[in-house]
Amino acid sequence: MLRTIKKWSRRLRGKRTVAMPSGPAIPPDLSAENVEIFQSVNHATMTSPERVSALCDAVRYVVSQGIPGDLVECGVWRGGSSMASALTLIEQGDMGRELWLYDTFEGMSEPTEDDRDFLGQSAAAQLELQDPNDPKSVWCVSQLDEVRGNMRRTGYPADQVHFVVGKVEETIPAQVPETIALLRLDTDWYESTRHELEHLMPRLSPGGVLIIDDYGHWQGCRRAVDEYLSEHGLHLLLHRIDYTGRMAIVGAPGVRRAA
Ligand SMILES: C[S@@+](CC[C@H](N)C(=O)[O-])C[C@H]1O[C@@H](n2cnc3c(N)ncnc32)[C@H](O)[C@@H]1O
Repeated sequence: MLRTIKKWSRRLRGKRTVAMPSGPAIPPDLSAENVEIFQSVNHATMTSPERVSALCDAVRYVVSQGIPGDLVECGVWRGGSSMASALTLIEQGDMGRELWLYDTFEGMSEPTEDDRDFLGQSAAAQLELQDPNDPKSVWCVSQLDEVRGNMRRTGYPADQVHFVVGKVEETIPAQVPETIALLRLDTDWYESTRHELEHLMPRLSPGGVLIIDDYGHWQGCRRAVDEYLSEHGLHLLLHRIDYTGRMAIVGAPGVRRAA
């Protein structure tokens, strides 16, 4: 019996994903357009094919629904997710929006006790064990010039891409767009996520999209989101993208908006 289950599970696994020459397996239900975008930004993102695909779909949604505002990403690393947004806007022929990329461009800020992964392992301990010079380490160090170059190569108008350098706790709300159509949060820790939510959520247009990259992976991020939503009486359906990514449409009919 066990052998039969294993055999079928192997067969099903084979059917459910498409292996890339290198990198993560691509689920077969992703559209050809999204797979192409994922493949062109994979070198510059830590996220999964599912999360890049969800982002591309969210960008198409705000364009097709005429949701006004800019696209914001907090925590960009090498810029791969923002590149995916830019490429999708170009595909949609919507090049009028501004893109806002917030990052220290020096790696992670200091975590607190709340910042633990889903297994309970402390972020501080993980940072201590890993080498900041290792590009794939939890330190997530990436230089501004590299990200600027990656964004330039998408072909999106360079004068509409804003790089906001520094800790979000210090740059927000001094440097923020008036209106946001899509807000993607990916700075991992409790304090930065909480700060971003407090200052940026009220700027999200009705029907705009909120994407949280680390809801499943980092406990501090989840706490920041749960606290914010509960304190502001926001009852969002946080749709699961994959084990960690979550996405919601904010301010749809019947959903109260943060003050
Ligand atoms: C997990 S990476 C982002 C991954 C990226 N979104 C992608 O698509 O691969 C986290 C990023 O958040 C940045 N970061 C962490 N804490 C920050 C803070 N307090 N303010 C600004 N940026 C921060 C780090 O420098 C790093 O680039």
